[in-house]
Formats: sequence, structure tokens, C-alpha cells
Amino acid sequence: MYRLFALWAIVAASSALASAHDFGKRLSHEDAVAAGKANRLLKRYPPDRATFAITTTPAFAATGTVVAALGEATQGASGAFNPNVGFNPLAATPTTCAPSYTAPNMITGTGTLPKPSTFVKKRFGDRFLNLDGAPFTIVGPNIYWICQDENYGPVGSYTDKGRVREALAIAVAMGANTIRLHSCGISTGTYLGKNPYNLNPALFKYNEAAWDIRDYVIYAAGQYGLRIVLPLTDNYKYYHGGKYDFIDFRNADPSNAGSSFYTNRAVQGSYLAYVGQLLRRVNPYNGLTYANDPTILAWETGNELGGYIEAEMWPPASWTRSVVSYIAAYDSNHLIIDGTNGFYNYTTKARSQGLQVPGINIVTDHGYPRNTALISTEYDITAPYAKNFLIGEFDWTTTQSSQSLAAYLSLIESWKPNVGDLAWSVFGHDAQCCNFVKHNDGYSLYYPNGNSAADEANVLLLVQHWYRQTNRPIPSQLVGVACPQPAF
Ligand SMILES: *[C@@H]1O[C@H](CO)[C@@H](O)[C@H](O)[C@H]1NC(C)=O
Repeated sequence: MYRLFALWAIVAASSALASAHDFGKRLSHEDAVAAGKANRLLKRYPPDRATFAITTTPAFAATGTVVAALGEATQGASGAFNPNVGFNPLAATPTTCAPSYTAPNMITGTGTLPKPSTFVKKRFGDRFLNLDGAPFTIVGPNIYWICQDENYGPVGSYTDKGRVREALAIAVAMGANTIRLHSCGISTGTYLGKNPYNLNPALFKYNEAAWDIRDYVIYAAGQYGLRIVLPLTDNYKYYHGGKYDFIDFRNADPSNAGSSFYTNRAVQGSYLAYVGQLLRRVNPYNGLTYANDPTILAWETGNELGGYIEAEMWPPASWTRSVVSYIAAYDSNHLIIDGTNGFYNYTTKARSQGLQVPGINIVTDHGYPRNTALISTEYDITAPYAKNFLIGEFDWTTTQSSQSLAAYLSLIESWKPNVGDLAWSVFGHDAQCCNFVKHNDGYSLYYPNGNSAADEANVLLLVQHWYRQTNRPIPSQLVGVACPQPAF
């Protein structure tokens, strides 16, 4: 590690002198793995970050509420950058709040789920995961904004910790055991200068101010008894960054849907360097490196890499193998998810190469719209590979899919414990516990009572399904969430 990082420090200090091409050749995969092994004993005390110039930005303190949804929704599925996306103005403190919700059962503290102390594992040959030997079926919501938000305050600013705690309590109330958090794992680039808050704003530059919210969310999720899936990059160009940042860091070719992300060694090196920062981070709230924290359930190599069932190029097996080896050099604890959006293209019959990579434990699809035929085919495809199947995002609404949610969920239940599901996406209230923070991508779930009457019925179906999948007594009405949640 020292050799590698000494080199990086020199490059960072004199980037004008070092050509990306030269550097890329030296950062071979073997170097990265060897360096990782050398650093294994030192991972609690990473020596490298102090070597770099640190850029810091002040944490954003919430003072009002914002309901205008910007960013992801306005950019379209292609992820094309929208220059009109900028800062969310803060509205004045509202005088009327959304109706509150009370129920016989309320989550008032961190809930009653056991705090993670051992790792979720997968045995060779099994299609299901296990926790201490018992089958573990992933269920819960995506809460993509929980580290850095685009919907409240300046785009990309650090999420208010009261909002974090309410969101975690919502996940507990919904029967979740797991949450998937884009903005905690993905935090690169500057969104064309509009987001100064990201963790890795430029090549080998790390923003110290960006760690605290990640440390806190991971620690607090553990306190609530939840586990976390962390995508490590994104296929698109949203405010939290993605694969194009690593291409930009190296002035590499962004054409062909960013395929140089998989083929250019220097680009891959800048991604692995970022991943290494996350693996080695020591969380001051619990003293654990991220690599040693059982609250983290899995690393996901990316979000929707390759686009919808290979509309773009799926990651080649060689790329996925090298990411898996790099992670394994630091971290023998965690599961690894192949970060694609589906792994079977029903037109070309192509299958993603991640299915063949032994270190990949879980393969995923995203259900937009809900499609029982597609997930049935994919379920059958996973059998000979003995991979766990995770529907990492899906439409829970009454309005966006023609197939009923009930049918979709009962099909998943028929496969228990082999298939997990994580709905897209949950929102809670503003920092004043007054109004819901809104996001208009068509799939926002405002828990518990911010949805249309028809959608509220779907929320109950979803919640009852998650309680069934985790072997808990099924609630007949939604469990409530006290807001604010106690501070810790
Ligand atoms: C299937 O793969 C082809 C070729 O990569 C791609 O053009 C198409 O968008 C993919 N998806 C579907 C639904 O056919």
C-alpha cells in the first residue's frame, strides 16, 4: 500500500506532470491486490488519506423546508445532465404541517430488532443467504438520499440527522431488515461544480467533511437493527456522481455509454482507489472499519451498470473479477452484488457475465415496471449458478405498472428464502417533522400517510409482505413512527 499510495501522492501533487496513461499501466490489477494484502493488517489505521490535500465544505444546517424536487427526476432515464438543476431554495418555516399519524404500535426509539453483530453470509451452492445459520431474506426500502440529499437544501448537502433517524425508524416500522443507500456509497465528482459536498470530488482528493454523515448513517442503522447495501458507483450522472466521474478524472473517453469505465486501466484504478477509501474507513462512532462492520450487508459494484438489461454494455467478467479481488483483499466479511439492472436480455437472450464470477454472491434486477415473467425467467437462470437473486429496486405503486403488486409479491414469497426485494423509494418528513420531503420520480413512498388512498393500500401490502418474509407477526395496519426520533 505504501508504494502505491506514495505514487498516488506524487501524482496528486504533480498531476500536470504525470500522464494518465503512464499511471494506468503501473496500477495493474496485481499491484492493487498485492497492495491490498499488504495493507490488511493496517486497515484500522489507514496511512494514506493524510497525504492528500483535503478539501472541506461546511455541513449544511437545515433551517427550513423544501418541497421542490430537483435533480434525478428532471434528468431523464439517460442521466443526461440538466444545467437547470442547481440549488434548492429553502422555503420559510411552514405554519401548517401534514396530518400526523398515530397507531396502536409506534416506533418510538430504535425499535426492537437485534443490532447486527455477525455478518450475513452465503454458503457455496445455496441460493439463499444466512445469518448465524438461519436463512436470511433481504427486504426493505431504498432510501437513496439518506447521506446526501438533492431534495432538501443545497443539492448534495449532508442529510439532517433527525431525518436520518426518522427514515431508519420508518424502515423498522415497515418490517425491513435491510436498506439500500445510493448516496452513502456513491459520492464522486462535483456535478459540474454544483455539488461541493461529495467525498471524492477529484482524482485522489477526499473531502473530510463528507465522512461524518456516512459514519453516522451506518452506526445509526446498526442501532436500529438494520443492514445496509451500498452501491459503489452509478451508471448515470446524478448529483451523487457515478462512473463518468472516474472517466473524467482520467480524461478518458466517455463515448459508447462510458465503456472505458470497464476497459481503461487508469479509470479502473481511480474507481478502485475510491472503493479502497470506503473499505478502510474507520468509523469513529463504533470504532470499526467499514470492511469489518456487520451493519453493512453487501457492496454492490455499481447501480444499474449497463443500463436496463444491457441497453448499454454490461460489465465484462474481467472487470467484475478484478473488483471482487480488490474488495476481497481488504474485506473477507461482506457479500458482493453484481451491480447490473437485470442479467437477462429477453430480446437478445444475452446473460450478464457477472453470473459466472465466483466472488459474486448476489445478482439483481430492478422492477420497472413489475414483470413477473421476466423475474421468473431470471429466477430459473440463477439456479445453476447458485446465486442469490435480489430485486434491488421495484415499483410499489398502483399507477406505474399494469401487473398487480399483490401478484408480484406473492410470486417472490413462493421463492422464499431465495429472492430478496427492496422497494424504490422511501421518504419521511423534513427536519421539523412537519411536511414530507417530496421527490417526483413517480415512485416516492411517503410513510406512513402521505400517499393517495389507492397507494396507501399498496403500502400496507408491501409492509405485510416484508413482515411475512422476516417471519414476524403481520400487522393489520401500518406501524407508526414517532417524529422526532430520540437523538443519539
Ligand atoms: C437488449 O440488448 C440489446 C443489445 O445490447 C439492446 O440494444 C437492447 O436495448 C437490450 N434490451 C432490450 C429490451 O432488448
